[in-house]
Amino acid sequence: MRNDLNLQQLAEASIRLITWNQHERGAYTASPLFPHYGFGWLRDGSFIAYSMDLSGQHESARLFYEWVSRIVDRKRPHIDDLINRKQRGDYVERHLFLHTRYQLDGRDDDHSEWGHFQLDGYGTWLWGLCAHLRLTGHAFIPEFFRKSVDAVADYLQAFWEYTNFDCWEEYSDFVHPSTLASIYGGLKAVAEMDGRDELLPLCEHIREFLLRHAVHPDGYFAKAIRPLYPEGRVEYEIGYDGVDASLLWLCEPFQVFGADHPVMAATIDRIVADLQTSQGGIRRYVGDTYYGGGEWLLLTAWYGWVALAQGKRVEAEQALAWVASQADQLGRMPEQVPHALDNRDIYEQWVDRWGPPASPLLWSHAMFLVLFHRLNARNTP
Ligand code: BGC
Repeated sequence: MRNDLNLQQLAEASIRLITWNQHERGAYTASPLFPHYGFGWLRDGSFIAYSMDLSGQHESARLFYEWVSRIVDRKRPHIDDLINRKQRGDYVERHLFLHTRYQLDGRDDDHSEWGHFQLDGYGTWLWGLCAHLRLTGHAFIPEFFRKSVDAVADYLQAFWEYTNFDCWEEYSDFVHPSTLASIYGGLKAVAEMDGRDELLPLCEHIREFLLRHAVHPDGYFAKAIRPLYPEGRVEYEIGYDGVDASLLWLCEPFQVFGADHPVMAATIDRIVADLQTSQGGIRRYVGDTYYGGGEWLLLTAWYGWVALAQGKRVEAEQALAWVASQADQLGRMPEQVPHALDNRDIYEQWVDRWGPPASPLLWSHAMFLVLFHRLNARNTP
């Protein structure tokens, strides 16, 4: 135990930290004290906003969703251009796709080497926005968000099948089931909120696609699949043999599959078997080299969220307690902790290069809050 704060105090500290690190225009800084993370990510931000909604901080969440909406409004002509290029059969260079993160004031991040083409954040934003609107009493999508929601839905419908960087900003030549889950969750939420039934067949298609192409012979969803193009056709093979903890998203929150679906259940079992350490934390995937592949707080909280969906309350409480025990005396939660590393040398190399792992990481705080609220009030959407 690195702190003597109770869960309630940690929840209050988390809300304060998130609030203090929200830019006046709405972006959440991924990590204020880690120079490489001084941007606003759609992925981190949408889950952070969701946690703020669950904490009753709707104004903060609204500011974030509006920040993204303004960026997307500005990009509408560019999105149309990308879709036209695709329809004409032109090759679209990767750097032209929408970025995964923006400067805090909304400007593009054009000057850094980053794996910018990542689709998951856009699906997650749609999902999070719809959750926000429902939680704040909206029965339909307000005019302010109309243009951006349509633009993102068009973008995802056009490019969902493209290879792109995964949620860890790696493996850009693969298709990632967790990314597909985000797209499914986003489009489904819009279909339901907006009565846009024409989006439902693609959601169903993504679900079938996952079952057809992403199930490992041993019966679980694989971390990544690779497209092959024999004789002009497209086929898929398993691109990475094992699981990735982000596969939990297929269950919560995007609900592509219930926790009791046989392939989902086998995936969760495999995540516990391969990625949970003896300390109780969850790693991203076997072979992760980022800071030596430590235990991630946000993924451990995620496992708790899914364990709750499986009716395993004790495991969910243990996961919350483990996350809480990783906060420092001021309640700050890091991205990952190096307590159970196979190879400490790689960790030290990263520390030499970039300093210790990011802390506080707002997304860690967010997932702590989500699990905290899930355990305390089970009726949240
Ligand atoms: C993670 C991403 C995350 C970003 C900012 C990266 O290291 O792989 O998932 O969005 O940090 O937190």
